[in-house]
Amino acid sequence: MQRNIPLGPRTWYGVGGAAEFLAEPRDQTELAELLAACHAADVPVHVLGKGANVLVAEAGVRGVVVQLNAAPFRQIDITAPIVTAGGGADLEKLITTTARAGLGGLEGLAGIPASVGGAIRMNAGGRYGEIGPHVQHVRCMTSRGEVVEHDRRDLRFAYRQSSIAEPIILTAVFELTPGDASALRRRLKDVMAFKKTSQPMAARSAGCAFKNPPAELSDKPAGRLIDETGLKGTRIGGAEVSTRHANFIVRHDGGTADDVIALIEHVQRTVAARTGITLEREIVIWGT
Ligand code: EPU
Repeated sequence: MQRNIPLGPRTWYGVGGAAEFLAEPRDQTELAELLAACHAADVPVHVLGKGANVLVAEAGVRGVVVQLNAAPFRQIDITAPIVTAGGGADLEKLITTTARAGLGGLEGLAGIPASVGGAIRMNAGGRYGEIGPHVQHVRCMTSRGEVVEHDRRDLRFAYRQSSIAEPIILTAVFELTPGDASALRRRLKDVMAFKKTSQPMAARSAGCAFKNPPAELSDKPAGRLIDETGLKGTRIGGAEVSTRHANFIVRHDGGTADDVIALIEHVQRTVAARTGITLEREIVIWGT
């Protein structure tokens, strides 16, 4: 546990304030003790995955930020076609390892930066599918440090959400489909290539800033609504609506978290005024 640790370097946006405390427990026992102690003392706990969908405000985060960086939380075990991964494991690594082992199912998620736990919690996905349908089982930890298991039967996944209420996903079990390893690797390359042409992958962002509106509100995705509102290239300070994909808000050198937040709000207001649709944020903002 460390005090007053800047969170910017641990997020894709690379900006924002510090965590009052940052905890990197070494194993499940330490994690359980930490959560139980925080619960007893009423200290807020925030769980950080790979920081790819979070923007930390300049004010920083009160309480404890937990990151599952220790080896026991990052393990990946393959007993084909079953794969078990720790919540802190890297999604990209899980995707390449399973494809190399000739197990298909996750290759459509290539290029999504995430921890396995973060990806499952928000049911990460895109045009080539979501992670939820591949999850068979999860072991979670409650805010009191107790272990809880959920089977496929009591798990629900929807667009960018899951039914998992516990703050921590310890491990996840996937059932994948045996396939040809070289075909799977080619598919990975194709998905990545498509993403590179349509998204500003090298820029600092947290992926799509807004969820696509539900079908009953609009048949147009958020990116198109923002684009048609003429907002591509709009800047506030060092934050800019990407000229490549309008649902990405990128941060240039010198741009602050406040610039990004101001631009998010500007986009919401402008799109609502023009189309009547209020875009719901997908990026999670900490510390406001
Ligand atoms: N479009 C525009 N202008 C733009 C961007 C998109 O007109 O600036 C139009 C495109 O022409 C396309 C449509 O909008 O016909 C959809 O665009 P895209 O295929 O890029 O998909 P998306 O719905 O914008 C979703 C996910 C992405 C994921 C991609 C690809 C959401 C909010 N976004 O984007 O997820 O990478 O599919 O699989 O669901 C993320 O969640 O952070 C994210 C990047």
